[in-house]
Amino acid sequence: MLEIKDLHASINGKEILKGINLTIKDGEVHALMGQNGAGKSTLSNVLVGHPAYEVTQGEAIYNGQDLLKMKPEERSHAGLFMSFQTPIEIPGVSMVNFMRAAVNEKRKYKGEEPLSASAFLKLMREKRAIVELDSKLANRSVNEGFSGGEKKRNEIFQMAMLEPTFAILDETDSGLDVDALRIVAEGFNKLRTPQTSALVITHYQRLLDYLKPDIIHVLIGGQIVKTGGPELALEIDEKGFDWIKAEAGL
Ligand SMILES: Nc1ncnc2c1ncn2[C@@H]1O[C@H](COP(=O)(O)OP(=O)(O)O)[C@@H](O)[C@H]1O
Ligand SMILES: [Mg+2]
Repeated sequence: MLEIKDLHASINGKEILKGINLTIKDGEVHALMGQNGAGKSTLSNVLVGHPAYEVTQGEAIYNGQDLLKMKPEERSHAGLFMSFQTPIEIPGVSMVNFMRAAVNEKRKYKGEEPLSASAFLKLMREKRAIVELDSKLANRSVNEGFSGGEKKRNEIFQMAMLEPTFAILDETDSGLDVDALRIVAEGFNKLRTPQTSALVITHYQRLLDYLKPDIIHVLIGGQIVKTGGPELALEIDEKGFDWIKAEAGL
């Protein structure tokens, strides 16, 4: 699915990612953990093609394609999705129009006809139900006046609409109360297929209890310094990161 080799990336001339190696196979969920400022969001942004980041070295191959050469919209059409740590508000653009444009652009890319208005609204209803997103929110401008938790729920709603094959969740659990977290996590699980892979960035074991990642990585100072099974997340929950730093000689 995704193979990242020796990836280096900078922002404003400052190197943040310092040689990331990461392979995620079809159907696998990997968790990425690490303290604030480690570079987790930078890695996500680089993978989806955020223009502010400069890749200075390395490669990322996504289903046989050179991901780093693709435009952000091509990456999205090819099945890549990212739930933003801080979703932006888009005043004046209704959720309906925003999602219709996104869904129909993706269909066009795949050589499919646009959905009819009624088929689209039916799809919206079905997908809203998965994350229990209020119909009132779906009728507003994108994220405008949404609470933090509603924005996060809306991210997974967008994921449901776009049916990605590779999803990056960047701290989607932050700002969610316990019930919303369960709904969002269960929503994500409902959207998974045996082929869907994900990179889940989180500080909390609670989300991982639901998502049951196969592999846990720890990112420190722009490098993955430790990789392990689900038990590694439990250990971090209990003991923090200092022991991993000590082990890595940092
Ligand atoms: N736009 C930016 N300009 C300058 N530095 C940035 C920018 N975005 C991120 N950084 C820096 O990159 C480092 C990694 O940030 P980030 O990837 O957001 O970390 P994480 O998501 O792991 O908390 C931090 O030191 C942060 O200050
Ligand atoms: Mg971050």
